[in-house]
Amino acid sequence: MVDQKIVLALKFLLLVLFFESTFEQQQQERLSSPIERAALLELRSSLGLRSKDWPIKADPCSVWNGIKCENGSVSEINISGFRRTRLGSQNPQFRVDSLVNLTRLKSFNASGFYLPGSIPDWFGQRLVSLQVLDLSSCLISNAIPGSLGNLTSLTGLYLHDNNFTGMIPSNLGLLAGLSVLDLSTNMFTGSIPVSFGSLQNLTRLDISMNFLSGSIPLGIGMLSKLQYLNLSTNGLSSSIPPQLGNLSNLADFDLSFNNLSGSLPAELRGLRKLQRMLIGNNLLGGSLPVNLFPVPSQLQTVVLKHNGFNGSVPSVLWSIPQLRLLDISGNNFTGMLPNGSLNANASAAELNVSQNLFYGGLTPMLGRFLVVDLSGNYFEGPIPDYVRDNASLVSNCLQNLSNQRSLLDCKSFYTAKGLTFDNFGLPNSTQPPAGGSTGKNNKKVIILASAFGALGLILLLVILLVLLLFCIRKRGTTTQRGVAVGVGPATPVPSGSSPPPPGVSIDLSSLGDAFTYQQLLLATGDFRDVNLIKHGHSGDLYKGILESGIPVVIKKIDLQSHSKEAYLLELDVFSKVSHSRLVPLLGHCLEKENEKFLIYKHMPNGDLSSSLFRKTDSEDSLKSLDWITRLKIAIGTAESLSYLHHECTPPIVHRDVQASSILLDDKFEVRLGSLSEVCIQEGDIHQSRISRLLRLPQ
Ligand SMILES: *[C@@H]1O[C@H](CO)[C@@H](O)[C@H](O)[C@H]1NC(C)=O
Ligand SMILES: *[C@@H]1O[C@H](CO)[C@@H](O)[C@H](O)[C@H]1NC(C)=O
Ligand SMILES: *[C@@H]1O[C@H](CO)[C@@H](O)[C@H](O)[C@H]1NC(C)=O
Ligand SMILES: *[C@@H]1O[C@H](CO)[C@@H](O)[C@H](O)[C@H]1NC(C)=O
Ligand SMILES: *[C@@H]1O[C@H](CO)[C@@H](O)[C@H](O)[C@H]1NC(C)=O
Ligand SMILES: *[C@@H]1O[C@H](CO)[C@@H](O)[C@H](O)[C@H]1NC(C)=O
Ligand SMILES: *[C@@H]1O[C@H](CO)[C@@H](O)[C@H](O)[C@H]1NC(C)=O
Ligand SMILES: *[C@@H]1O[C@H](CO)[C@@H](O)[C@H](O)[C@H]1NC(C)=O
Ligand SMILES: *[C@@H]1O[C@H](CO)[C@@H](O)[C@H](O)[C@H]1NC(C)=O
Ligand SMILES: *[C@@H]1O[C@H](CO)[C@@H](O)[C@H](O)[C@H]1NC(C)=O
Ligand SMILES: *[C@@H]1O[C@H](CO)[C@@H](O)[C@H](O)[C@H]1NC(C)=O
Ligand SMILES: *[C@@H]1O[C@H](CO)[C@@H](O)[C@H](O)[C@H]1NC(C)=O
Repeated sequence: MVDQKIVLALKFLLLVLFFESTFEQQQQERLSSPIERAALLELRSSLGLRSKDWPIKADPCSVWNGIKCENGSVSEINISGFRRTRLGSQNPQFRVDSLVNLTRLKSFNASGFYLPGSIPDWFGQRLVSLQVLDLSSCLISNAIPGSLGNLTSLTGLYLHDNNFTGMIPSNLGLLAGLSVLDLSTNMFTGSIPVSFGSLQNLTRLDISMNFLSGSIPLGIGMLSKLQYLNLSTNGLSSSIPPQLGNLSNLADFDLSFNNLSGSLPAELRGLRKLQRMLIGNNLLGGSLPVNLFPVPSQLQTVVLKHNGFNGSVPSVLWSIPQLRLLDISGNNFTGMLPNGSLNANASAAELNVSQNLFYGGLTPMLGRFLVVDLSGNYFEGPIPDYVRDNASLVSNCLQNLSNQRSLLDCKSFYTAKGLTFDNFGLPNSTQPPAGGSTGKNNKKVIILASAFGALGLILLLVILLVLLLFCIRKRGTTTQRGVAVGVGPATPVPSGSSPPPPGVSIDLSSLGDAFTYQQLLLATGDFRDVNLIKHGHSGDLYKGILESGIPVVIKKIDLQSHSKEAYLLELDVFSKVSHSRLVPLLGHCLEKENEKFLIYKHMPNGDLSSSLFRKTDSEDSLKSLDWITRLKIAIGTAESLSYLHHECTPPIVHRDVQASSILLDDKFEVRLGSLSEVCIQEGDIHQSRISRLLRLPQ
């Protein structure tokens, strides 16, 4: 039974094989040239191909895999996807010499078949009938021989995903019939050959993922048949040539991840067939030309992310019907979202406008997008229903939402634009706390804030009173002891009344950088009057900008008219204490004999007295500080005094706490200034720290 079945099956199999082979032989001719047959056998052994693919006894044209013949000659070889014999894979090499005897060969495809080594020079000189050469992913290394420019019949040259190095030979520009040129994902250096401008039949040019530098040749704009241009992920620099606007057939345009700069040329509106525009991650800037995008447009993908673009987004862009991805994140775009629901059907679309300067309310056009990222802007108002739950909204000025910007941040942004901030939807007269507030607990917070504010102020006054009494008493005792230093601003020590300090023991290394007088002259424009902030008690204050661009305040102490002790005292204080509540000392310049300089960090919000009564241009802007900020300042001041009194040993008393010595940084945090007015409290038995400092006789 079983035997019968097997015999039957074998008969059937033979029948099938017989019909198949006669059928094939009718369809395909046999290889007629013995030279070509020898060449194929030579290739078979030099590459180590398996009998499974190329059976040695059978006819190559009719039986071998991947061989096509015309008129008895081999016209195509496709060994892509082949595996080598075990012997062949032991030492794989780029050994295809016998190809030279296949004189009618039009196409050679070895994609994915490892050919380690370099393309030999004869390749370009001998394989002149070659039309398609695909050596992608073959592990080939070294430079491309310039002789490839001799393969003038080539229509497709695929060399991507290899380890090619060196420059792209400009001879490739001689391949006038080339339709596809793919050199991507290699290690090419140098610039894109200018000769590429003569590849008039090119439809696809991919040079992405190399190490190319220099600029994009203008000639690329003359490749009028080009449909695909990918130059991404290189080091290309300078600006995008306006000539690229001539590429009227271009559908894919990818220049992302380069170092391109300048602005986008308005000529790019000539790209009427464009579907994908990817120019993200460059150094581009300026505003987008209003008419950058043609109408009608076929754009589906627009990525402008991580550049330095500013200004508004052309309104056309929001209303392109088939747009699937719009990513303009990480720029300085500004403006409001357009109103109305535009083409509300494209539901799979994605919108990313994060990290820009957009503002105003959310609009129904957002309903069109499935994925929305609005984070890091200044959008205000309530969250409407059409905004999906998965939308990213953090770091805005939106109502009833956590992780929003601070009131101050939002308010100053809108004020600078001459607009009124909606105050997180809360009544105008009162000031809600920064971000994340909800209407419910808001009133409570305001009441608490006022109470604490008042309490803080009272506390401050009490502390000041106590300090004043304490200091007056102390001053009495020190003067009695004959040490007339550290005296308040009202009674400056006349110069010369105390002997010069021989070898003051201050550790200058802890006092920031030592600046040269020349640097300070540069920073302040030769101490010009326009840079004078005020004549202080202990010296004149100038604003200035260091060479590194850091804004500073420089105190100029003229020893002829100001007390020497005051500045030495201040240096002493700074050398011993350091706290985030004290104004940061950046450095000093003591090289001049009669003028000494101290350099402080510039405090953007000035001092309390100027902040309290600040006037800004816009009418609706805040006239003075809100209560939250006042409370913050009161607490900050208390903290700074507490530090001086309780954490410093010996304790230090600041004897000039007034609005003008309470400095405010960019976040309105207190940094106490006027430290030349302090007095250092030591026990009565010990000599005063100052007198020791100045080595005064007892
Ligand atoms: C094949 O040979 C015939 C006649 O010899 C010729 O007409 C034809 O063009 C040839 N085809 C190719 C592809 O060479
Ligand atoms: C080349 O050969 C591989 C494997 O035999 C095959 O998968 C592929 O389709 C062929 N490619 C062409 C263009 O003939
Ligand atoms: C070479 O073969 C691979 C698949 O084996 C194919 O994807 C590729 O398109 C072929 N190259 C050309 C130029 O046809
Ligand atoms: C090409 O064929 C000739 C004989 O016709 C032979 O002498 C020569 O070695 C072959 N070339 C290669 C590279 O196989
Ligand atoms: C091939 O190219 C080389 C250099 O690229 C050139 O010197 C040579 O003359 C060319 N040969 C032919 C046959 O065109
Ligand atoms: C390319 O060459 C580098 C070194 O030259 C080597 O580390 C790397 O593995 C190579 N890559 C491939 C795909 O061969
Ligand atoms: C360019 O392509 C056209 C049509 O495909 C062809 O007629 C022309 O000969 C090609 N040009 C070159 C230089 O090969
Ligand atoms: C351009 O090339 C890069 C890297 O090779 C690739 O990731 C990107 O998808 C390509 N762009 C387009 C539009 O195909
Ligand atoms: C881009 O430019 C920056 C500075 O201008 C440089 O540091 C960087 O290396 C450049 N990147 C490339 C890929 O050339
Ligand atoms: C290409 O663009 C440039 C400038 O954008 C223009 O002057 C020129 O006429 C255009 N050339 C063609 C052939 O369209
Ligand atoms: C936006 O503008 C600011 C101020 O001009 C600048 O510091 C910042 O780098 C810009 N951001 C981008 C992404 O260009
Ligand atoms: C706040 O004041 C502005 C004008 O100053 C007004 O338009 C707005 O409606 C007010 N908002 C509230 C909540 O009262």
